[in-house]
Amino acid sequence: MKKFINGKIYKNDETSEILVENGKIVELGKNLKDVDEIIDLGGKLVCPPFVDSHLHLDYVYTLSEMAETGAKSGTLFEAIELWPKYKESMMTRESVKRLAKKGIMDELKHGVQYIKTHVDVTDPNFTGLKAMLELREELKDKVYIQIVSFPQNGMYTYKGGVDLVEEGLKMGADSVGGIPHYEPAREFGEKSIHDIVKLAMKYDKLIDVHCDETDDPQSRFVELLNALVLMEDYGTRTTASHTCSFGSDNDSYAYRMIDLFKKSKMNFTSLPTENVYLQGRQDTYPKRRGLTRVKEFIENGINVAFGQDSINDPWYPAGNGNHMIILDHGIHLAQIMSAEDMERNLDLITYNGAKCLNIQDEYGIEVGRAANFIVLDEYSPAEAIRNRSDVLMSVRNGEFLFKRKPVEYEVELDLGR
Ligand code: FE2
Repeated sequence: MKKFINGKIYKNDETSEILVENGKIVELGKNLKDVDEIIDLGGKLVCPPFVDSHLHLDYVYTLSEMAETGAKSGTLFEAIELWPKYKESMMTRESVKRLAKKGIMDELKHGVQYIKTHVDVTDPNFTGLKAMLELREELKDKVYIQIVSFPQNGMYTYKGGVDLVEEGLKMGADSVGGIPHYEPAREFGEKSIHDIVKLAMKYDKLIDVHCDETDDPQSRFVELLNALVLMEDYGTRTTASHTCSFGSDNDSYAYRMIDLFKKSKMNFTSLPTENVYLQGRQDTYPKRRGLTRVKEFIENGINVAFGQDSINDPWYPAGNGNHMIILDHGIHLAQIMSAEDMERNLDLITYNGAKCLNIQDEYGIEVGRAANFIVLDEYSPAEAIRNRSDVLMSVRNGEFLFKRKPVEYEVELDLGR
């Protein structure tokens, strides 16, 4: 048995101590009984581990790897065109595992313990998926990985695409993916949405669709996805990722849809750093931000989380798994920085992400749940966000994944009195 003391638990002023036995939280509160092993958290902010609700682990660090093949102008559609060439010529199960591990390391060292990864299944050999299924198993003690069977090149841009998505589910993917705005005609985009929902129900899987990742306000596949999962009562098991075009829609349409999103309880993932970089490319000025209506979702009780999306891949050259950077960008772009917002903004990379993975019943600092939490190098949520706080400790099943010291100066800065 061990006891973590003197922690400032996010959203729980009643608790400063966490008692852990056999990897689980057995008691929370103040002045709990004495045990042999006591770990002092120094009054720092403790919160559940960060959740990356949207990452392409089979792509991470491929930009460096495929430098010879191009990817110079950095548009989304060019990157999607280049991807098959890389897959054919350079991608192996070993290369995917090697690079994905590097990406997982980036995420874990910044406090993530839960990752939903979209894995491209438009490869009849399933190289990426096989690699990711192996990694999911090999690393399960250190990180929870959820896999989406994702048709990067569409389901109907060639024959047999939908069968590959289905095969990915049979092989062990947790969730059905799609990319309706990339299908060759609106009707095929709609058909893909119908197929995604059917497949999810057939195999009892979650849904996570790359939905309307474009500035074109006529891309409204989110409307059909929402209607179908509302009808099937499948909203809490569904996530619409990106929904960038919803930020370009007119208000009359948006407010009608927000009402329908509330009814379905569908989840949303916004990728602020990636989409502010990729969207608005055809705009001159003013340039759109490429973000969905995050602020309005929060105001209306619609679940929305932030994710990383990419780390050094053809779509996005930056990214390092640091979700405090993503959160900082996201709250600027979505304009959510009131005092009240700052008290709850960490939800966007913790609790809200857990709902997108549908793991909310096992996630969080509560008695009976796994002793998984992180300690930030600040004393309040607002200060942690303002300073993009470092993560000092990551605890999983009661054991340290890592623990490090705050930055120490050899020479202190001194501006005098
Ligand atoms: Fe994505």
